[in-house]
This record gives sequence, structure tokens and C-alpha cells, in this order.
Amino acid sequence: MHIAMIGTGYVGLVSGACFADFGHQVTCVDKDADKIAALRHGEIPIFEPGLEALVATNVAASRLDFTTDLAGPVAEADAVFIAVGTPSRRGDGHADLSYVYAAAREIAAAVRGFTVVVTKSTVPVGTGDEVERLIFEANPSADVVVASNPEFLREGAAIRDFKFPDRIVIGTSDERGRKALGDIYRPLSLNQAPLMFTARRTAELIKYAANAFLATKITFINEIADLSEKVGADIQEVARGIGLDNRIGTKFLHAGPGYGGSCFPKDTRALVKIAEDHDTPLRIVESVVTVNDNRKRAMARKVAQALGGNLRNKTIAVLGLAFKPDTDDMREAPSIPLITGLRDMGAKVRAFDPASMKEARRELPDIAYCDDVYACAEGADALVIVTEWVQFRALDLPRLKRIMKQPVMVDLRNVYRPDEMAELGFAYSSIGRDRA
Ligand SMILES: NC(=O)c1ccc[n+]([C@@H]2O[C@H](COP(=O)([O-])OP(=O)(O)OC[C@H]3O[C@@H](n4cnc5c(N)ncnc54)[C@H](O)[C@@H]3O)[C@@H](O)[C@H]2O)c1
Repeated sequence: MHIAMIGTGYVGLVSGACFADFGHQVTCVDKDADKIAALRHGEIPIFEPGLEALVATNVAASRLDFTTDLAGPVAEADAVFIAVGTPSRRGDGHADLSYVYAAAREIAAAVRGFTVVVTKSTVPVGTGDEVERLIFEANPSADVVVASNPEFLREGAAIRDFKFPDRIVIGTSDERGRKALGDIYRPLSLNQAPLMFTARRTAELIKYAANAFLATKITFINEIADLSEKVGADIQEVARGIGLDNRIGTKFLHAGPGYGGSCFPKDTRALVKIAEDHDTPLRIVESVVTVNDNRKRAMARKVAQALGGNLRNKTIAVLGLAFKPDTDDMREAPSIPLITGLRDMGAKVRAFDPASMKEARRELPDIAYCDDVYACAEGADALVIVTEWVQFRALDLPRLKRIMKQPVMVDLRNVYRPDEMAELGFAYSSIGRDRA
């Protein structure tokens, strides 16, 4: 099938490359001319394991190409996916749908013949109705079905998630739309991935409900971690003890500095707004948003506590800046409010991240960036682990102790064991395992 992917970011590029790998003919479109030029030279604008090779193979097989011109590929397409950004709208937290609607208008002017227009971006309930209205307003004779197909991939494991999904949600009641999307995803249903057909609005809500639930799970274990510290329990064991119950499950029960990233923060905020607009406040999700926002900055106070409360002129080495390992994405990363908080308290900050330092420089221009862990730690008053990159799981601890000004580690991901760190002579604090 011919597919046009509008928006070539994390979701558009991964989805486009995977669809091409299934054998479809895919054109990825983006307004960002630099991004398209780079892709045409084989340069991948994001850090995502396996993506470069997947793109190269499919470009070489002439199944995947890149352009800034939307009209050509849309005219030829059987299906057009909208995968543009839906960031938080400045000021009120609603999802900003201006990119989605702009894409819909452009698509309306370009479609030829029967075409399924599919929203892959995460969008509030009812957005599909508005996309449909805009298309028929601009082009009343268009032969178009508008469907919702939310994406559940995770950055860092995006290709695997796309090719082996837990489920594929297809939201349309139109038979032609269902058939077209069923055909597009057929290679996956051979892998036994459940294809779930629903109404469009239901599909739109599934995506927000899923992200809000996962954000709630993380926030729940974070609060239980704070209580663990107060009562002298170990959060790692509490999490395992509850997670082994199949009804709860072990995933998303890792206590840490609060969730970040391009999805959970903006999607929880948007869901709160959607619910308010429908006069059905979601109190649990509202609390999750507030608790998580406060937590990120509280991490700076935790570091201060580890150094006796005063950070003035102290040097803090921060390991990990991206919101999670295996990505360079800095959107709403916990490292940002943490580092801002440290600097507000008078600390000097140095940082190292294996992939995100280029991105980080835009958000955090006033800190020092180091070439590796040990350059970062040299002479530091404290070392803070913020992102649990695999590179930080087996640090040379005796060496760190030798080169740091004092052996203080604040491990916000519980990578190390308190007893071992104490034996090595570190003043070590972590999440939900410190005795108050
Ligand atoms: N990043 C994730 O892990 C993830 C996972 C699931 C769902 N989502 C959702 O998918 C959507 C896209 O997210 P992303 O992280 O890929 O965003 P992104 O910001 O990385 O990419 C969006 C791209 O769309 C382009 N664009 C905007 N308007 C355009 C237009 N009219 N025509 C062509 N290109 C246009 C931008 O230039 C940008 O390159 C969002 O709604 C997000 O919530 C993201």
C-alpha cells in the first residue's frame, strides 16, 4: 500500500520506517527542511537504537523516501498518517492541535481517490470529528475516511514496540477504513498482535487513559518510596512484593525522580483539561500531575540534604540528562528542574550524558558539559545519578572515590546497593531506602 506519513519526528520516522519494512511504499513528509535534507543523506536526527540501519535498508530497497512536499505523496497515498506534535498549549495545558489541523487542511487539498486519513498523534477525544469536518469543509467531494490509530511505542525501544506491540488500536466504524488499516497492519497480526477495532472516540480516549494510568503507577510508587524512607522500609522490596501480584505487575514500579519525557507530562495535563471540559474532573490524575511536578524540584533539595543543606559554591556532577536511557530526548526531563534547583541554591553543575548533551545545551546552556563520567566527577562534592543509562551501572567506584572531593553519591534511580556503597566509604542516598 502507499502510505504518506505527515510529521517525521520520533513517531513518524519510526512508524514510517517500520511500515516500509513490512513492504509498504512509504513517504515521510516534514516541514523541517533541515531534517529532511539530513535524512536524505542517511543522517538520523534522533537517537533511537536500530533506526539508522532500518532506515538505510528500506531507503536502499526504494520503499522509503523523504520530502518536504506534502501534496505529491498524499495524492498517491491509500493512507495518510498524521504524526505531528501535539505539545501542551502555552498557558493552559490543553493539547495544542494547531499542527494537526494545519496538516488536515493541507491533506484535504491534496487527496485523490479513496484515502484513509489516520491520526497517529495523541489527540483529545473529538479531534477526529474536527479533522473530518475540516477536510470536508475544504474539499466537499473528497473520498476520505478519518480514523484514529494511537501509537504506544516507547522511545529507546521504539522499533521493537512498533513491530511487537501489545495491541494495535484502530478507531473507525467505517468498513472501508477498517479494511485498509487491517491490510496495513496485516504483517503484525501474523505475529499475533491483537488488532482491536473500536469507535474513533474510544480509540482517542484509550491512548490518554493508558498514559495516565502508567503515570499514576509511577507516581504511586514514588509516594510509597517517600513513606518507605520515613518508616525504614526498602522501596525496592516493597515494589517487588506488590508487583509479583499479577493484578499489579512489576512494570512501572521503579521509584525515581518523577516521570518526564515527551508524552506523560503533556498527556496527563491534557487529560485533566479534557475531563474538566466535560464536567467530569479526574481527581486522581490531577493529583498525579501536581505530585510529579513538585517531586522533580524536590530532588534538588534531596541533593542539598546529602551535603548538609548548603550548596553554595559546591560542585555537583550530574550523570544522565535525557528523560530516560537510550534516547536523546530532553523534553520535560527531570534533570532540568533538578539542575535549575541546584543552581538556584548556588551550586556549580557539571554533567555528562551518553547521547543527549547536544539537546541539553539548548535547555541548560549555563552548565559545564563533560566528555565522560570521570571527567565529570573529578573534584566534585557530590555525584548524582539522574538517568539510569547502562554505562552508569558498573562505575569504577574506588576510582570515583579517589577523584571526587568527597565521596557523596545521590542515586535517584537506585542503581547501587546501600550496604555496598557504605562498605566502600560513600555517603550514599537513594530513593525510598534511606533511613530517616
Ligand atoms: N515520542 C513518543 O514516544 C510518542 C509515543 C506515542 C505517541 N506520541 C505522540 O505522537 C505525536 C508526535 O510525537 P513526536 O514525539 O514524534 O513529535 P516530534 O516533535 O518529534 O515530531 C513532530 C514532527 O512533525 C513535524 N510537523 C509539524 N507540522 C507539520 C506539517 N503540517 N507537515 C509536516 N510536518 C509537520 C515537525 O516538524 C516535527 O518534525 C504526538 O502527538 C505525541 O504525543 C509520541
